[in-house]
Amino acid sequence: MSIADRARQVLPGGTTRTTVFVPPHPPYAVHGEGAIVTDHRGHQVIDCNNNYTSLIHGHAHPDVLQAATEAAWSGTAFGLPTASEVTLAEHLRERTGIEQWRFCNSGTEAVLMLLRAARAHTGRDLIVRFEGSYHGTGDAVVSPGAPGVARSVSDSVLVLPQNDLEALTAAMRKHGDRIAAVLIDLMPNRAGLNRADYEYVAKLRALTRQYGALLAVDEVITFRLREGGLHQEYGLQPDLVSVGKVIGGGFPVGAIGGRAEVLSPFVPQTPGAVSWGGTFSANPVTMAAGITALGLFDSQKIAELNRRGDELRSRLHDAGVAVHGSGSLLRLIAPDPTEVWWSLYRRGVLCGTNGLLALSTAMTPTHIERVGQAVIDAIDPKDTAQQSQ
Ligand SMILES: Cc1ncc(COP(=O)(O)O)c(C=O)c1O
Repeated sequence: MSIADRARQVLPGGTTRTTVFVPPHPPYAVHGEGAIVTDHRGHQVIDCNNNYTSLIHGHAHPDVLQAATEAAWSGTAFGLPTASEVTLAEHLRERTGIEQWRFCNSGTEAVLMLLRAARAHTGRDLIVRFEGSYHGTGDAVVSPGAPGVARSVSDSVLVLPQNDLEALTAAMRKHGDRIAAVLIDLMPNRAGLNRADYEYVAKLRALTRQYGALLAVDEVITFRLREGGLHQEYGLQPDLVSVGKVIGGGFPVGAIGGRAEVLSPFVPQTPGAVSWGGTFSANPVTMAAGITALGLFDSQKIAELNRRGDELRSRLHDAGVAVHGSGSLLRLIAPDPTEVWWSLYRRGVLCGTNGLLALSTAMTPTHIERVGQAVIDAIDPKDTAQQSQ
């Protein structure tokens, strides 16, 4: 029996993650080293998925592995804090200027914690977020009325079109004094990896201040684009941020950051404090890997990787391929992402199931050249031109 057949018997649809499923069934990874993944049939691909943008140094980076292994030999998890969570929080504070941090195990959990923090801090219920943006799988951030989500959840969430100043102003005027937070991804992947307008974001900051709502930026994907996250490019001071992916060096992670005053509901001694545990939150293996991975990803490395991404995007664009994104994150816009996925996979490139390409520092110029050629060969420019209109 094939592994896919075995999987279908014990996992619904044969998969654990909807986001890695491609019909009829994805190949299985058996080995990752640097920029290369080998599947169960021995086929090798250049990894432009990088576990959905999280493997900033590719697979099995020796320094990251050494840090994680050393940590693991001293104990993988404790019912006590460890110094490593303090070190990673200090590192994040230095990169971002954001005062305090709390760790968890995924971006989904970070967003949940962020919303809880916002509601606890403001004493308000309503959350505003934007159409098409993905913030993980929490009830409040999936589509209103999504199967399995209580209808009442959508009463506490307002979904607006991003970059529509009129809709934002009207919503703030009508609901401003009930809004706990506005949650924005400045370059939402699922919505096409298009950036939020600078003017729009400046207005959003002003309006949230005016109405006493918090501005929360989801940097789970975009953190890799600047030393302290994409919001720095906007000159923006968010009240809360959620991060994940690259900050864990390839291990499960999430975190929120904010001013001490905003995160004060989590202070255990406070009367009425928000209680938030997490058996594996801030485990020393993730923390050690994250500290090492971020230490190897300074502003020079970030700029270099972004430049390579910009060059690849220009090349694809010049070849007539519709491609969005910025820096090291690219998104192919094609009518049939599954067809593109398989077409690229056969040509030796692993992308996201929605056409997302995320570069890693493990890629050489030759890898990137091969990725560019594979995309040009795999995609019919006529199709993508229609899609991008
Ligand atoms: C912007 C954003 N927020 C949150 C999440 C959820 O993160 P995780 O998959 O670690 O739960 C993702 C995942 O891709 C994301 O892109």
